[in-house]
Amino acid sequence: MNNFGGDWTESKIEILVEYAKAYLTIMNIYAHRYDWKLLYFDGFAGSGSIKKGNEQDEKIIIGAAARILEIDDPRSFDMYYFVEKEPNAKRLLETSTKLKFPQKNVYIANEDCNDKIHAMKDFLISKNGRKYKALAYIDPCGMQLNWSTLVALQKLSVDAWILVPTGMGVNRLLKSDGRISDAWLQKLENFLGMEKRDILSQFYVEKEVYTLFGTETVTTKKESAIEQSANLYMQRLGEIFKYVSKPYVLRNRMNSTMFHFFMVSNNREAVKIANEIVAKYNNRTNGTVKY
Ligand SMILES: C[S@@+](CC[C@H](N)C(=O)[O-])C[C@H]1O[C@@H](n2cnc3c(N)ncnc32)[C@H](O)[C@@H]1O
Repeated sequence: MNNFGGDWTESKIEILVEYAKAYLTIMNIYAHRYDWKLLYFDGFAGSGSIKKGNEQDEKIIIGAAARILEIDDPRSFDMYYFVEKEPNAKRLLETSTKLKFPQKNVYIANEDCNDKIHAMKDFLISKNGRKYKALAYIDPCGMQLNWSTLVALQKLSVDAWILVPTGMGVNRLLKSDGRISDAWLQKLENFLGMEKRDILSQFYVEKEVYTLFGTETVTTKKESAIEQSANLYMQRLGEIFKYVSKPYVLRNRMNSTMFHFFMVSNNREAVKIANEIVAKYNNRTNGTVKY
C-alpha cells in the first residue's frame, strides 16, 4: 500500500476521474466515427490503494488505477497500461486491477515510467498505434519524471495530467544560499530540462554587500520559489503542448504548497474542460488561487 495521502490525494483522484468521464463521453463519439481506440496510461500507478491520515485517524482510499478501471459509462478504455517500478507495489496493483477486472485489457509493467513513455510514443506513431488516442496520468511522488520524457509526447494525441513536485521537490533542492550539490543540480537539470546557469538565474539573485573588508557578492534565493517553479514549469509545458491548464494546488495541513497538478493537451476544448474542473476543486479546497 502506498503511504502518502493527504486530503489533496483524494481531490487529485476525483479531478482525474471527473476528467476521464468527460474524455470518454466526448471521445466515444469520435471513436465510433473514425474507428479510434482509446488508451489509458498511468506512469506511476502505485499499489492500488493509499493510506492517508495518522494512526488515530487513518483512512484507506482506492488508488486511481481501479477508479479509472471502474468507469464503464458511456464506455471504458480499449487498453489500460500501468507502470509501477517497485516490485511489491506492482504485485499488489495486479490484484486490484488485472485480477479484479479480468474482462478489461490491462497491462502492468514493472519498469521506469520514463522508459515506458518513450515506448508509448513509439507505439502511438507506429502503424497499429496511430488509431489510438491516449489519456495519461503522471503522478510521481518526487522528481522522477525527466523533461526529455515529456518532450517525447510532443505533437501526439495525448492528454496528460501531470503532478509537479514544486514544494516537495524543486524547492527543497534550491538551498537558500545557492550552494547546491552537483547531484542535486543534475536532478534539477533533468527535471526542468534547463541548464544549471539558467536554473540558478531563475531562482537566485546576486547582491553586492558592503562589508568592513570591502564589497562582497552574496547569493540569495528569491522569495516564493515554489510559485516561481510552478510558473516556470507551466511555461515550459507550453513549449511542448499547445494548451496547458491552470494548476490545482495541493497543500498540506500546514497550508504549505506541496505539488501543482497540471493538464496538458494539443486540444483546446480538452484544456477548457480541465480548467473548469480545476477551478471547482481549487475553490473547494484552496479558496482563490492566483494563476
Ligand atoms: C504517488 S505514487 C502513485 C499513486 C497512484 N497514482 C494512486 O493513485 O494510487 C507513486 C508511485 O510511483 C512509483 N515509482 C517511483 N518511481 C518510479 C519510476 N521511475 N517509474 C515508475 N514508477 C515509479 C512508486 O513506487 C509509487 O508507488
